[in-house]
Formats: sequence, C-alpha cells, structure tokens
Amino acid sequence: MARVALVTGGMGGLGEAVCIKLAALGYKVVTTYSPGNTKAESWLSQMKEQGYDFKAYPCDVSDYDSAQACVRQVEQDVGPVDVLVNNAGITRDMTFKKMDKPNWDAVMKTNLDSVFNMTKPVCDGMVERGWGRIINISSVNGQKGAFGQTNYSAAKAGMHGFTKALALEVARKGVTVNTISPGYIGTKMVMDIPSEVLESKIIPQIPMGRLGKPEEVAGLVAYLSSEEAAFVTGANIAINGGQHMQ
Ligand code: CAA
Repeated sequence: MARVALVTGGMGGLGEAVCIKLAALGYKVVTTYSPGNTKAESWLSQMKEQGYDFKAYPCDVSDYDSAQACVRQVEQDVGPVDVLVNNAGITRDMTFKKMDKPNWDAVMKTNLDSVFNMTKPVCDGMVERGWGRIINISSVNGQKGAFGQTNYSAAKAGMHGFTKALALEVARKGVTVNTISPGYIGTKMVMDIPSEVLESKIIPQIPMGRLGKPEEVAGLVAYLSSEEAAFVTGANIAINGGQHMQ
C-alpha cells in the first residue's frame, strides 16, 4: 500500500517540488491550499497534464478547526496520513521599528501555530500505527536571524523547538520528527525581495554564490520520508549553500 503524504502549501515554490518528488517515489500525495486561492483548479489540471494526480484541499493552516476538518477529510478520502510536511509559510518582512501586531501575528499563526494545528490531528494515528514522518520546513533565518524578519525568524526558530520536543515524545514509536532549514531558494518568496537587496546583501552571504533549487530541498524531504531515515530524528538539517557558516 502506498504511503500517504500530506504537504501543506504545495501549490508552488518548495511545496510543489516536494509534491512532485514524493509522487515520483510512489507516495499518494495530498496538498492543501489557502481557501482564497483561485488558482487551485488550474494548478491541479496543469499537474494532471504532467502526469501527477494530486488531491488538494482548502485549509487555513493558521486556524485550528480548519486544519482538523481538512485532515479528517483527507483520512476519509485517501487514508491515514503517514508523512506530514509542514511547508506552508508566509513572509511579512519589515524592520522591527515598522513591525506592527497584525504582521507579527500573521506570521506566527501561519508559520508556527500551523505546525501545531496540522500535527495534532495526525500524530496519534502515526503512533498507533507505529510509523510516521513529520517534516517541518523552517529556514536558515530561524537559525541565524535575518534583517527585517523578527517575526519570521522567531516563528522558524520556534518550529525547531517543537520538532525537538515532539521527537523526544515519539522516538520509541516509529515516528520521526525533523526540521529542514533551507536557505534562499529560487522561489517566488525569494524573488519578491527587492532585487538590489538580494544582489548586494543576500547572495554575497551564500558561499556557493547562488540560490538553491526547489528540487534540492525536495530530495532532502524525500530522504527524511524514507525507510532509510528511520534513525534520524530531532535533527535540523541545513540546506543553504553554506550560508549557515557565514
Ligand atoms: N542587511 C543589512 N542591512 C540591510 C539589509 C540587510 N539584509 N537590508 C536592508 N538593510 C539596510 C539598508 O541598506 C538601509 O540602510 P541605510 O538606512 O543605512 O540606508 C536600511 O537597512 C533600511 O533599508 P530599507 O530602506 O530597505 O528599509 P525598508 O523598510 O524599505 O526594507 C526590508 C527593509 C523589508 C527588510 C528589506 O530590506 C527586505 O525586504 N530585505 C530582505 C529581507 C529578507 O531577507 N527576507 C527573506 C525573504 S525569503 C525567505 O524568508 C525564505 C527563507 O526562508 C530564506
């Protein structure tokens, strides 16, 4: 029986590459999209044309009830979730001087509360079945901080605290919990950074001198999802062209 992988925020960027990689490896892949996303249908048919038969569910990952309802529906339609990739995330970059409460709250809710909201309805089932993989997509900026990202860096660092605590609780139950901390990957989120900031402040901090590729991160997600990764838990794996050393 194919394992079921649920990837939050899979329509574009890193999430899309993760969906494609896991599908290619034989997982049944389900993704979530934010309820206001009007491009969901066209994304699904575009993927279908490329040979990927993904299922997608509207889910506000920042909302506890929405997340519970989404997972219940996935379980009913597709089966219990074996691999959860907490990928959905947003940025609201501004210096702390300009940071207001709504922009702080939006990032904390979408990037950190979501991890609780989505993990809560799947974790007990993984423990009961004796097998599960929870993979939290954090960021190099949760490890080292980033100018203009007090909200994002706090949420991303918080994800790894969650990872380590839960990893301890389920370590003997066949369930692993890990964090991946990508650096700057060539996705829309990074391309939205003003180009002069990207060129003059960010690329020079990356020893490899280039942005990462979504497929490179997807390959790491695939490894952590696999049988071979059974002994890896509570880890925070950097994938950032060496930026974490700067
Ligand atoms: N490092 C050091 N100084 C910086 C800086 C940086 N990264 N970015 C801006 N500054 C400096 C500017 O040079 C400027 O200096 P002066 O006042 O001396 O001229 C000062 O800060 C103010 O800069 P701005 O006028 O640009 O201020 P702003 O309020 O318009 O914008 C900002 C600030 C929103 C932080 C903008 O610089 C920005 O978008 N920076 C990019 C933030 C970033 O890295 N985001 C990552 C998004 S991708 C992502 O998050 C994915 C992932 O996980 C890696």
